[in-house]
Amino acid sequence: MVSRVIPVQAFDLVIFGGTGDLAQRKILPALFRRHCAGQLPDSARILGAARADLGSGGYRELVRDALQRELADSELAKHRIELDAFLTRLDYLPIDAMDAAGWQALAMTLGPPTSDRVRVFYFSVGPSLFAPLAEQIWAHDLADDQTRIVVEKPFGHDLASAKALNCTLASHFDENQIYRIDHYLGKETVQNLMAIRFGNMLFEPLWNSQYVDHIQITVAESLGVSGRESYYDKSGAMRDMMQNHLMQLLCLIAMEPPAKFDPDAVRDEKLKVIRALETVEPHHIVRGQYVLTEGETAGDDNSYRETVGDPRSTTESYVALKAHISNWRWAGTPFYLRTGKRLVARSSVINVFFKDAPHSIFGADAGRHANLLTIRLQPNEGITLKVTIKEPGPGGMRLIDVPLDMSFAQALGADIDDAPDAYERLITDVIRGNQTLFMRGDEVEAAWGWTDPIIAGWTSRGDVPKPYDSGSTGPGDADLLMRRDQREWRGINP
Ligand code: BG6
Repeated sequence: MVSRVIPVQAFDLVIFGGTGDLAQRKILPALFRRHCAGQLPDSARILGAARADLGSGGYRELVRDALQRELADSELAKHRIELDAFLTRLDYLPIDAMDAAGWQALAMTLGPPTSDRVRVFYFSVGPSLFAPLAEQIWAHDLADDQTRIVVEKPFGHDLASAKALNCTLASHFDENQIYRIDHYLGKETVQNLMAIRFGNMLFEPLWNSQYVDHIQITVAESLGVSGRESYYDKSGAMRDMMQNHLMQLLCLIAMEPPAKFDPDAVRDEKLKVIRALETVEPHHIVRGQYVLTEGETAGDDNSYRETVGDPRSTTESYVALKAHISNWRWAGTPFYLRTGKRLVARSSVINVFFKDAPHSIFGADAGRHANLLTIRLQPNEGITLKVTIKEPGPGGMRLIDVPLDMSFAQALGADIDDAPDAYERLITDVIRGNQTLFMRGDEVEAAWGWTDPIIAGWTSRGDVPKPYDSGSTGPGDADLLMRRDQREWRGINP
């Protein structure tokens, strides 16, 4: 088989916020893994930039420690030689976005942009620094129209702030230079959603309200918010997960087939889904906040309010809602979305419930079973299709359903384990100049446009989230939301 590791072209990557948490936990480990995979050309340079007064030697030690912390011992042991080589790629410059110091040195290190090296500035910093950074970059002639910038979520906290950020970036860079990360789009299995839908003849003809009864999208997490209290308490599950990750999953499940797998074709179709979303009725949403399960002792498992240190916090750590997409394909098919922290298991799953066959030739006693397609995104990635068969044995025709089950790990063996993680894929896509897996500015704004009225409604009504036990499946009201429609959630299984 031909090697699938195709080296990227020569690049200079400057990480603003190069000593920060994201750089240490995600960006640098991802670059290290791509280095080990042989994907980074020898001339590729990675430059950390932050306010800390470090030299390149100090930065390399900081990154070595970070990799030792983030990577498994076995992985490090396997790549001990590569680790030293990777560290020699790294340089560091102390730079303050608000101050002239350091910028001249950066300009000297980088030199003017050239067409044979991709130049990327990774803004791994708070949004308040986007404008000053962009201004300094242009003031020091560090960019041209091929230069790329990467920005992270949260991209704004509402429509107005997202528009302001888009406007700031647009005054310095073209949209095709801006890479807005939603790391869910970089996940192998999330991309597989498109392959499953558009690579198979089997599903697409049935993928509409005539055959699909409803769709459930669940992103459950077992961890709480400890360590990110101050960010999370200002965001909540709606802003932190629903507006972006679940919205992206919904788009990929519901969108029309794009004419080709190219950035604007895919993003145009996703945008149409978001724009076709109806405003969610207040009684179609449930918010929750985790509390200690009876008998549980505090510690790492504090209740949400104890963890964030605010006994009156009304921020939701869970949200479930029923959404409708007003278009020809989906009119009348509800999409139930839920996400939460400190739930019974970590599990991201999409369940597509098909309708019953229109008529049973076997009579009422045989039983009826509708088909169900389960797409497991993480962990235990795979798909299961429940099909109806005859229960074996004598005694007439009785129907049962059995799973056609495929675990990607079993089917693909080592190949799936070797697949790059989300950040590895996204960073190499930036260098390659492929924006398919990045959010376009209008997409982000449309998602906030749908989210804002929901949050405004909670604020104006003084809504308080329903408590749910940590380690449970969420608040009881989320079950009621389904029961009112004579449906129920699929269990949350790891
Ligand atoms: C982040 C959220 O974007 O995604 C976190 O800010 C969340 O709150 C995380 O825990 C989930 O990502 P993953 O890859 O662990 O499913």
